[in-house]
Amino acid sequence: MTGDPIRRALDDVWYCVGESRSLRPGGMRSVSLGEEAVVVGREASGALFALRDRCPHRGMALSAGRIVDGNLVCPFHGWQFRPDGVCAAIPALARRDDANFASVRLARFAVAEKSGLIWVHANANLANPNLANANLANANPANANPDAAPPIPEVDFDYCGQLVEILEVEASFDLVALSFVDPAHVAYVHDSWWWRPSKTMKEKVKHFAPSPFGFTMTSHTAKTASLAYRLLGSIPEVEIEFRLPGVRLERITAGAKRLANYTFASPLANGRTALINAMYWNIPALNLLKPVARPLMRQFLGQDRDVLQIAQRGLDRKPAMVLMGESDVQSQWYFSLKREFLRAREAGAAFVNPLEPRELRWRS
Ligand code: FES
Ligand SMILES: [Fe+2]
Repeated sequence: MTGDPIRRALDDVWYCVGESRSLRPGGMRSVSLGEEAVVVGREASGALFALRDRCPHRGMALSAGRIVDGNLVCPFHGWQFRPDGVCAAIPALARRDDANFASVRLARFAVAEKSGLIWVHANANLANPNLANANLANANPANANPDAAPPIPEVDFDYCGQLVEILEVEASFDLVALSFVDPAHVAYVHDSWWWRPSKTMKEKVKHFAPSPFGFTMTSHTAKTASLAYRLLGSIPEVEIEFRLPGVRLERITAGAKRLANYTFASPLANGRTALINAMYWNIPALNLLKPVARPLMRQFLGQDRDVLQIAQRGLDRKPAMVLMGESDVQSQWYFSLKREFLRAREAGAAFVNPLEPRELRWRS
């Protein structure tokens, strides 16, 4: 980790922290957002909350406690917090003790649920305007707008099946996000028979256009249909969008059949990164393949994890990367987008996409 913000994961954006079904009403768990520990929980009503997972009294993890009558109870001395972060009770206080515990508040994070996934906004102060005045001495008012963040991905069709896998990778956020826009690694890292039946490298021509907070490889026909694509029956149209912070959205259409393969990176503690793959489809027959598809998905993600972890050790010794040729242009774009996002935030200005439409050629 360096002090250079371009090397760090962005903090005014949404990150995926897990599946909706991982939180039942009355449940909670701790998630990492970079070095920040957040307790995400679900109230009896189904509403989600996200608070800093640190009791202000002695630093205890509130996620180790329980939810009682709708309040989080710290397991150390029983301080209670409402889902909005305000302290509701301190059991040890004597009757004559007039300590004003309602002034004790946990930092609160914006939290949202889309297409079966939970997303937390990494800037705690956004969801807590009262705290913002106190804590954000050097922040910009423009940041206090959740719409300034790249939108949370959603699935734009009625899906009948969903498959989610989450892996932890001992590699930086950037290195994982770059693997989403790196066509040259596929032939070497993902050479499974079911994904890449042909071992020969061919020159590819792809068209790209800027899209909100990123760029999109415009829809084309997948000619060398892999087995995974052929399962759709007809030759599919494929569109791949990348957007900040580390979001890759692959949308596959074959007539009325739709398949979405979404991949996200989320920063964890100690320079680790979560690699999240969520697949959705509207083809009932694919539900039968779920038991087969899950291990294949795990294998595919594991191939990325293994290579990223080893590359990270090389970057730890010397962090520089040499980006070369058109197969690395999307990686250059990643850094341009990130730099512009940081510049806009610093200036309190709106993000302006720095990219132009472009054709890229590479062999893969
Ligand atoms: S540390 Fe939480 S109540 Fe004391
Ligand atoms: Fe990969």
